[in-house]
Amino acid sequence: MSIRTYHPRRGRLSGRHHDALDRLFAAYATTVAELPAPLDLPAVFGRTAPVVLEIGFGMGDATAEMAAADPDRDYLAVEVHTPGIAHLLALIEQRELTNVRVAVGDALDLARRCLPEQSLDAVHAYFPDPWPKARHHKRRLIQPAHVALLRSRLRRGGRLHCATDWAPYAEVMLATLTADPELVNTHDGYAPRPAYRPQTKFERRGVRAGRPAYDLVFERSFDTADG
Ligand SMILES: C[S@@+](CC[C@H](N)C(=O)[O-])C[C@H]1O[C@@H](n2cnc3c(N)ncnc32)[C@H](O)[C@@H]1O
Repeated sequence: MSIRTYHPRRGRLSGRHHDALDRLFAAYATTVAELPAPLDLPAVFGRTAPVVLEIGFGMGDATAEMAAADPDRDYLAVEVHTPGIAHLLALIEQRELTNVRVAVGDALDLARRCLPEQSLDAVHAYFPDPWPKARHHKRRLIQPAHVALLRSRLRRGGRLHCATDWAPYAEVMLATLTADPELVNTHDGYAPRPAYRPQTKFERRGVRAGRPAYDLVFERSFDTADG
C-alpha cells in the first residue's frame, strides 16, 4: 500500500452534518474509488469550464468562499475527513453553489487514476499536513514525485498554488517546486497571498502567534511541437 499524506483521524459528526451527508452526498459527492477513469469533467459539472482541484479542503469554508467568488470555474474538492466533507456539502446547499463537487478519498489516487493530463486550470494545496518529524517527511504532499504528478494534470499556463505556515516546509516547497522541470515561479520566491485565497481563522491565529503563511504560486510551462 502506498504511503498516505494524511492522518487517520476520527471526528464527531454533529446532527447537522449527519443530515447534510444523508441528504446531499448523492447529489454533490462521490468516493474516489467509484469515479471512472478517465473522469469526464464536463459531465461531472454539466458544462465545459476551467477546473480547479482543491486538495485537502479541511472544513471547506475557504473552498466555498472561492467558488462563490469565481463562478466561471468549477471546483473539484477532495478530502478524506468526514466532518469537513459534511460541512462543505452543507455550504454548497446554503450558498447555492453550482460549481463545486466533492471527491472523497486520496487526492493523489484521484489525480493518478482519474484525471487526464492537462485537464486542470489550477491545483490548490492549502496548509497540507506539515509532517514535521524527519521520519514522516515521506508523507508530505509536496515532494518531487507528487509535484510531477499534479503538474502533469495542469494545462499549459495552469497554476499550482501551495500555502503553508510551517516555515521549514515552506523552504522545502520552494526548493521542490523550483526544481520541477516544467514549473516556473510567478514571483521571486514566495508570493504575497493572492486576494482570491481567503484567510482562514486557523491562519489568522497563526499570524497572531508569529507564524505567517507562505504562498507559492507556480505556473506550468513547457514547449510543444507546434510552439
Ligand atoms: C492541515 S489540514 C488544512 C485544511 C485546509 N486546506 C485549511 O487550510 O484549513 C490538511 C487537510 O488535508 C487533508 N489531506 C491530506 N492529504 C490528503 C490527500 N492525499 N487527499 C485528500 N486530502 C488530504 C487532510 O485530511 C486535512 O484535512
